[in-house]
Amino acid sequence: MSEMILQVNNLETSFYTHVGEVRAVRDVSFSVKKGEILGIVGESGSGKSTVLLSIMGLLQHPGKVKSGEIIFEGENLTKKSNREMQHIRGRKISMIFQDPMSSLNPVFTVGNQIAETIMTHEHVSRKDANKRVLELLELVRIPSAKSRINCYPHEFSGGMRQRAMIALALACSPEMLLADEPTTALDVTIQAQMMDLLRDIRKETDTTIILVTHDLGVVSEMCDFVQVMYGGRLMEEAPSREIFDTPGHPYTKGLLRSIPNVKKGSRERLKPIEGSPPDLITPFDGCPFAFRCSHTMNLCMEACSSEWKIGDKHRCACHLCNPEVRALLEEGGEN
Ligand SMILES: Nc1ncnc2c1ncn2[C@@H]1O[C@H](COP(=O)(O)OP(=O)(O)O)[C@@H](O)[C@H]1O
Ligand SMILES: [Mg+2]
Repeated sequence: MSEMILQVNNLETSFYTHVGEVRAVRDVSFSVKKGEILGIVGESGSGKSTVLLSIMGLLQHPGKVKSGEIIFEGENLTKKSNREMQHIRGRKISMIFQDPMSSLNPVFTVGNQIAETIMTHEHVSRKDANKRVLELLELVRIPSAKSRINCYPHEFSGGMRQRAMIALALACSPEMLLADEPTTALDVTIQAQMMDLLRDIRKETDTTIILVTHDLGVVSEMCDFVQVMYGGRLMEEAPSREIFDTPGHPYTKGLLRSIPNVKKGSRERLKPIEGSPPDLITPFDGCPFAFRCSHTMNLCMEACSSEWKIGDKHRCACHLCNPEVRALLEEGGEN
């Protein structure tokens, strides 16, 4: 069994805005094994980016990790100072964003930025750093890498900028790469190429990857595990094949009905989930999906379900997965 690289325990992250506390991440726990690719899916506003930013220690004011632990290679990142986190970022954990220009500086050449990053974290000569830059640009499949080292970001196409950003993120061979919807802004062909690239990187470097995506097709093709988030909570987690074959949560089922059939490639009519995601500022302890779910019981309005094991590695936070509730329902007890 391979070792755990990341363990998140009961993470709570909020944004303390002037109109109140936005509970963006509530009681989220999960773990990731070394070399694994974990996908996180869920509608916009579910808390996916907030989970990644909490891990990176990059939450902007007024965001704050309220409680919980983020154990990375045995150390609790929530206890680290900014300075210690700076050391971990880039060297141990890197993040790639939807917009490459949020990572790339327009006034420096691509090669220069990557070399500087390497030299900040590692004691290497400029010559060795440049050699590594070339290797990285080749790793991310930038054609004629040698002649492009001295290009500025604006001289690159959108897809190439994305590759350059990935090269920058990989500059110091991080153990773990966090990717937040890295291909959303790109056209479909380039999206597919980027996903192939991430997969190759995992194969060639054994980097652990957490990939936030709204594309369940991507999940089925490249993730080992998938987590479904909604309203700041983890609704379901399973090996990615199982999410498609035997989804447990009504929310997951709704998501699956709202996308083109990944497996069969069929063109049956898509059914978007009716209603919209909850407002995370109003205190509510029930299931965040209760207002949109067709199975809602009184129980769902009162408390969010704990996670139920519905398969070897399959967890689901729905009262319907609770054997006691099921037994009651079969007797005609609950409403
Ligand atoms: N800087 C911020 N200030 C206030 N609320 C925020 C901020 N960033 C995110 N949120 C809120 O946190 C919740 C989760 O957001 P986010 O993590 O970005 O979701 P996702 O990535 O799943 O779309 C949303 O309700 C969003 O409005
Ligand atoms: Mg996001």
